[in-house]
Amino acid sequence: MNMPTKMAALAAAAAVLYGCAHFSGVSSLRGVDVAAVDKAPAEQKVYVGKRPGVGQLIARTFDGQPPLVPHAVDNFDEITVTDNQCLECHSPETAKAKNAPVVADTHLVADKHTINDARYQCNTCHVPQVDAPPLIANSFVGTPSQPVKR
Ligand code: HEC
Ligand code: HEC
Repeated sequence: MNMPTKMAALAAAAAVLYGCAHFSGVSSLRGVDVAAVDKAPAEQKVYVGKRPGVGQLIARTFDGQPPLVPHAVDNFDEITVTDNQCLECHSPETAKAKNAPVVADTHLVADKHTINDARYQCNTCHVPQVDAPPLIANSFVGTPSQPVKR
């Protein structure tokens, strides 16, 4: 298939899908037509947390939950191969001096010092908080509150 034919085929398939969703009453979780402009607001800049060190830990709502980041992460959330600023405060070497919680043992390889590569990209699991209403209502309550570790 050459390029224009491929695009025409894709457009036709999209039109069919759109037609099905439209006429069978199927709707997305967003509650609006799938083709409508995204209702999500622009990225929020105001994190609930302030700079690290002045906040409280956020209670965990289920066992095994990656704790939520209670502080702002602007300026240090770009994790690259050579630079991970999270570790400047949270690694076993630095945490004590920075008065920050140390990463869990699960994040380290057997020597108990080196970060397991599978845990290097901290913000895959640990997310900062924004003071915004949820986009979609939900009734999640979590298991009885888990102890905050510090
Ligand atoms: C300048 C030091 C510093 C940096 C950099 C930093 N943190 Fe923190 N972090 C803290 C401190 C201190 C706390 C304790 C809460 C507070 O006082 O803000 C904390 C708390 C946390 C917690 C809560 C732990 C728990 O048990 O509830 C998580 C998760 C966390 N940080 C993740 C991150 C991630 C991910 C990054 C990188 C994007 C990062 N932090 C960068 C100092 C830092
Ligand atoms: C694959 C998901 C994942 C990644 C990636 C990850 N964490 Fe975690 N983190 C967790 C979970 C889950 C916990 C709760 C304890 C546990 O089950 O290991 C945790 C716990 C923590 C804690 C609290 C310590 C404790 O004893 O509970 C800190 C601080 C933390 N992580 C920081 C980091 C930092 C810094 C990075 C990046 C270097 C990172 N984490 C990467 C999932 C992750």
